[in-house]
Parts: sequence; C-alpha cells; structure tokens
Amino acid sequence: MELNFEIKKETDKIYQKVSNVIPPIEWAFHAPLIHKINQLKKEKNAVVLAHNYQTPEIFHGVADISADSLALAVEAEKTDADIIVLCGVHFMAETAKLMNPNKKVLLPDMGAGCSLAASITGEDVRMLKQKYPSVPVVTYVNTSAEVKAESDICCTSANAVKVVESLGTDKVIFLPDQYMAKYVQSKTKVQIISWVGTCIVHEKFSAQEIREIKKQNPEIKVLTHPECPPDVIAASDFTGSTSSMSKYVKDKQPSKVMLVTECSMSDNVQVENPNVQFIKPCNLCPYMKRITLQKILECLEKETNEILIPETIIKKAQRAVGRMVAIGRNH
Ligand code: 13P
Ligand code: SF4
Repeated sequence: MELNFEIKKETDKIYQKVSNVIPPIEWAFHAPLIHKINQLKKEKNAVVLAHNYQTPEIFHGVADISADSLALAVEAEKTDADIIVLCGVHFMAETAKLMNPNKKVLLPDMGAGCSLAASITGEDVRMLKQKYPSVPVVTYVNTSAEVKAESDICCTSANAVKVVESLGTDKVIFLPDQYMAKYVQSKTKVQIISWVGTCIVHEKFSAQEIREIKKQNPEIKVLTHPECPPDVIAASDFTGSTSSMSKYVKDKQPSKVMLVTECSMSDNVQVENPNVQFIKPCNLCPYMKRITLQKILECLEKETNEILIPETIIKKAQRAVGRMVAIGRNH
C-alpha cells in the first residue's frame, strides 16, 4: 500500500524510530490510522495515555504519555485535556477516572480485562475484613473500583513495599496477587495476608527457562516483574515495575537483556536502546492486545466506551488511590 504525501510527511519521523521493530509492510497499515488519531486528538483536546505493554505503533505512534500503572494514574490526574483515551486495561481506565472524575475517560475495548482484577470482588474483601478485623487492606491497582473502594490504600508494583510499610502495622491484608504478596513479604517484616490471584502472563515463566538462557548467554541481565513466581524472581538480576525495568536498561545499557514480562515491552524498550541486544521471551497479555489503532480511532471519533463509576464507589476508591499516589515510588 502506497502512503500519500501528507501521511508520509507526518509519520515518517515516527517510522524512523520504530523501523527495527515494525516491518514496512505493517507500517503501511498503521501510518494512516496514526495520522488520523493524532489529528483527532488535537481537534478534540484529547490525550492518549498508554501502558508500557501496548504495541509499538500505539506506544510510539499515538501515545502522549506511556508509562507504568503508577505514572499513568499520576498523569491522569495532571492532564487538562477534555478526553483521556486509556490504552491499557479496564482497571487502568477506571483508575484514570478516579484520579480525574470530571474528564471523559475512554477505553478502546471494554473487554480489556485482567486476570488479577477478575480474581477478587468487593464481597471477597468484605469477607476478609470480617475475618481479620482491624488489619488494614492494601490493594494492588490491578483490581476493580469496587474492590478499591473496600480498601484502605492501593499500591502498584512500583511502590508496594513502601505502601505496606507506610501503614505502621505489624500485619496487612495484601490483595489480590499471591506472587506479588510473596515478593513484598521477602522485602519487609510486616506480616502479609494474601489472596489467590495470579497474572496469567507472568505465572507462565519458569526458573528453568531463565537458567537455560543464562547458561547460553552468560553476559545477559535478566529483569523480572514482581508478578512472577518467587523462583523466577530468585533466578533474575533485578525485579521491578515495568518503568523500573525500562529505566534499568536505559541507565545501565547492558550488552544483552531479557525482560521477563509482556512481549511488547521488549519492543518498546528496544526502540529507545538500539545498542542493547534483547532476548525476547514471549508471553502476550491477551487483554492488553485487545487495544488496536483501529479501535482507538473508533472510540475517539464516536466518544464511545466511556468509563462510568457509581458516585458511592468513586469517593471511597478515590481515597485509596489518592493515598497511594501521595506515597510515591519505592526508594
Ligand atoms: P506496572 O504497574 O509495573 O506497569 O504493571 C502493570 C501490569 O499490569 C503488569 O502486568
Ligand atoms: Fe493483568 Fe497480567 Fe495482563 Fe498485567 S499482564 S494486565 S496483570 S493479565
């Protein structure tokens, strides 16, 4: 497909950046959509916030801000755009709405869920609070607004330990990721009471796989997300949120790296670090991959898929997210 002069002029610079991860044949389909979305954003005073797991054409082509879940929440609060298009999953769009309830928040595909968010309900949290009265509830942002509303405070992978320790108690209920709970437990003396949720992307990695890769590539640095099982984390060189992994690569420029997380993350970080060689294990998040340029364009054009949260839930959930944002990142 031949690109017309205007589209080529507007998108060539972006393509120069991503050409090592997007072949020209695919770019010919992406470029006209990127051009239209970027025009429409200006016309409608809209901002596109994208998670680090979005595909490179979204991450580098239309996102105004691309980040981890904590930074997306912070940016959602700061923006003065009229419309926020959240390219990520449902809980991220809900969090953006909680941070900026007067804005129109759109999610290009309402089916973009999360296995962790689906693992727990508000009723489950009420049951836990009855079982462990007066133990504070720390909830990972990968949950519904209803679950956040039942919680004392939220956290992300970027500040879980700091949030748990900020409460000054000897015990906390930490929901819903059992592996993240184990990771936090390994870093703090506070006793962690956990739930049974897992991330379907990160639970698939194995320590054996990492050991094999390290054997074949002795110079490699292996970076894991705290949603991975404990033996996978133990086999790695660094553990952190998606943005801290990205920062590690940027700052340390290892000759070879493996990001033990969602596939697109490696593509996005590679674009910005051309001298680093990436070994790419590939576990796709089927929810993140529901977001496409076509769906972004449609939802922005028609202003559909708006995130709405009942007033009673908004107030309580806002408090839990606001307390987390005030705490910031791990040291
Ligand atoms: P981050 O908060 O590290 O971006 O992770 C979000 C997520 O969904 C990881 O699977
Ligand atoms: Fe949820 Fe895992 Fe997908 Fe992140 S990668 S959105 S935790 S299912």
